Amino acid sequence: MPTIEDNKMRLSLKRDAVDYSYDIIFGEYLFPQIADDLLHNPLGKKYAIITDSNVEKLYAGSLKDALARAGLSAMVFSFEAGEPNKDIYFCADKVDEMSQNGFGRDAAIIALGGGVVGDMAGFIASIFNRGIPYIQVPTTVLAQADSSIGGKTAVNTRYGKNLIGAFYHPKKVYIDVSTLKTLSDRDYICGLAETIKHGMLGDKDFFDFLLKNYDADKKKDPAFWLNIAKNNCRIKGQIVEIDPDEKGIRAYLNYGHTIGHAVEQLSLDMFANGKHKNFLSHGEAVSIGMMVVGEISWSLGYLPDEDLATLEKLLKHVGLPVRVPSDMDVEDIIQITLKDKKARDGMARYVLPIKKGKMHDFGGAYTTYVAPQIVREAIKARREF
Ligand SMILES: NC(=O)c1ccc[n+]([C@@H]2O[C@H](COP(=O)([O-])OP(=O)(O)OC[C@H]3O[C@@H](n4cnc5c(N)ncnc54)[C@H](O)[C@@H]3O)[C@@H](O)[C@H]2O)c1
Ligand SMILES: [Zn+2]
Repeated sequence: MPTIEDNKMRLSLKRDAVDYSYDIIFGEYLFPQIADDLLHNPLGKKYAIITDSNVEKLYAGSLKDALARAGLSAMVFSFEAGEPNKDIYFCADKVDEMSQNGFGRDAAIIALGGGVVGDMAGFIASIFNRGIPYIQVPTTVLAQADSSIGGKTAVNTRYGKNLIGAFYHPKKVYIDVSTLKTLSDRDYICGLAETIKHGMLGDKDFFDFLLKNYDADKKKDPAFWLNIAKNNCRIKGQIVEIDPDEKGIRAYLNYGHTIGHAVEQLSLDMFANGKHKNFLSHGEAVSIGMMVVGEISWSLGYLPDEDLATLEKLLKHVGLPVRVPSDMDVEDIIQITLKDKKARDGMARYVLPIKKGKMHDFGGAYTTYVAPQIVREAIKARREF
């Protein structure tokens, strides 16, 4: 169980007698604290601040200045923002830029941005000079709720989401909710999908809290976001501590993701082909995925009517989409799910909710194979009209 005291949570992680536990710090305006911590407990001789084009303009300068004031050497490396750029080629470019600028084994990385930056910067940290330390400074609701903790790093390939990556834990995570103030309305909402996922898979009270307390005005309330981030990290942390390498119960965190990733990938393809003006965000795709998988669980007799209806109510309440876009081909979705990392013998594996706050444990297997016909029917039932 992660220990929480005031604005600090300790995630305890050990593998083969190696302790890679780390602290998650919660607060506002944390850049001076990050600089002070790195001054007293250095992770490297110099720091590569890896970020994206949007976050660079907003926050990279002030983080670099805070480090400079503490006498620390840092340089900013930036990607073009957006999921379509989450690939290995951009990572290779950054690796080269870092080498050109004298970064080597004694350097460390600061991942400053949303989930895309966190996944890419974490991946670069895992491969640069065979691995250098990094810290996460997440700046979106999604990254503060989910992607910055747990040590999953990855990039996409043309064959699917997150197909290249590594488990590589950060040395520390700084959740600075003051950075959320500049988020677009859409990105606030997208981040709530993984938050609702955490309520649905492990904490009924947190789910009910969101239903009762969330409204659009909360955007301006840092105390609300601190509370949300702490609850998310507690729920996810508990699972990651038990199963850091996803051999069992950690699969629960993939709730909605087999369908979600398929819908997200198709949406990115349609955007690249000019068929769509925009693409679904990860959070939006996960929201749709959770509804379809809720439907699968309902059709198998596990999830009661009222829990499926409450899930839909909360997703809609925060403004997330709950239906598969009408121009997405059902068979295309099915085909992508069958290429999922966990699919076998023509069937994809799913984690299924049995009620608000609880997943089916399938006798300790945590996941179950679901026949394509059942998945097909669920997608059809949850398509846009
Ligand atoms: N590693 C994991 O465990 C894990 C878990 C969940 C999601 N993910 C990954 O996270 C990614 C989605 O993350 P995301 O939703 O944060 O997307 P993102 O990183 O693309 O951020 C969304 C948008 O917000 C902008 N932005 C970021 N911070 C901002 C700020 N403070 N103010 C204004 N704009 C800001 C970004 O530039 C971007 O345009 C997906 O690639 C998904 O696969 C990973
Ligand atoms: Zn996710």
